[in-house]
Amino acid sequence: MGKDVIIACDFDSAEKTFAFLDKFTDVKPFVKIGMELYYAEGPSIVKEIKRRGHKIFLDLKLHDIPNTVKKAMAVLSRLDVDMTNLHAAGTTRMMEGALEGLTRPDGTRPILIAVTQLTSTDQESMEKDMLIKEPIADVVMHYALTAKNAGLDGVVCSPLEAEKVHSSCGKDFVTVTPGVRFADGDIGDQKRVMTPAQAKEIGSDYIVVGRPITAAPDPVAAYNRCVNEFVG
Ligand code: C5P
Repeated sequence: MGKDVIIACDFDSAEKTFAFLDKFTDVKPFVKIGMELYYAEGPSIVKEIKRRGHKIFLDLKLHDIPNTVKKAMAVLSRLDVDMTNLHAAGTTRMMEGALEGLTRPDGTRPILIAVTQLTSTDQESMEKDMLIKEPIADVVMHYALTAKNAGLDGVVCSPLEAEKVHSSCGKDFVTVTPGVRFADGDIGDQKRVMTPAQAKEIGSDYIVVGRPITAAPDPVAAYNRCVNEFVG
């Protein structure tokens, strides 16, 4: 799998997004479009960013009945995104439906990855709100294996889980890891962080980096620093 840095474009309008992307004149970084930007601007933002030559991870975390997810994935696939995701908690049947919907008539499809337990969920909230009593690390690994068995390509996970996911699911099973900060940077609201160099060391395939790049005084320099540390 190609190692790459994905910039989280967490902006609330097309205008702010393009003002940011216009700074990149030589390279066209891989970008993540999340719920905020997609719900603000709709499919046109995806088409325009694609037209400008960027790869796109559409981070909408689908979770519904298998038939609905299959049909929604078919629509997203036509937007020609490179990567998208869903919640593994939606079950094997939902993940299989998603893969079917995503697959284009020529057999190609975007990379499909699963969210296991959100990193905002802890042991206590999982037990109390979901009545799941197993240790959260085992739940994350179980969801990763379920996603693999359903035919998915990988998972979004904490950089701290990436090594274990690779040892349980194989090194070709993709790990996409947010929570990345420079050694001399502000960690903000992230709790468990790694530097791009550490993420490389533990074998992450893609790192998702937002504010350390989007809020940097020189975003292009920050992006290049990330790429140099992570891809090397
Ligand atoms: O600005 P920052 O680098 O913290 O952005 C990280 C990005 O990754 C955000 O878009 C955030 O929603 C996303 N993300 C995360 N932790 C997860 C899943 C997604 O930070 N467990």
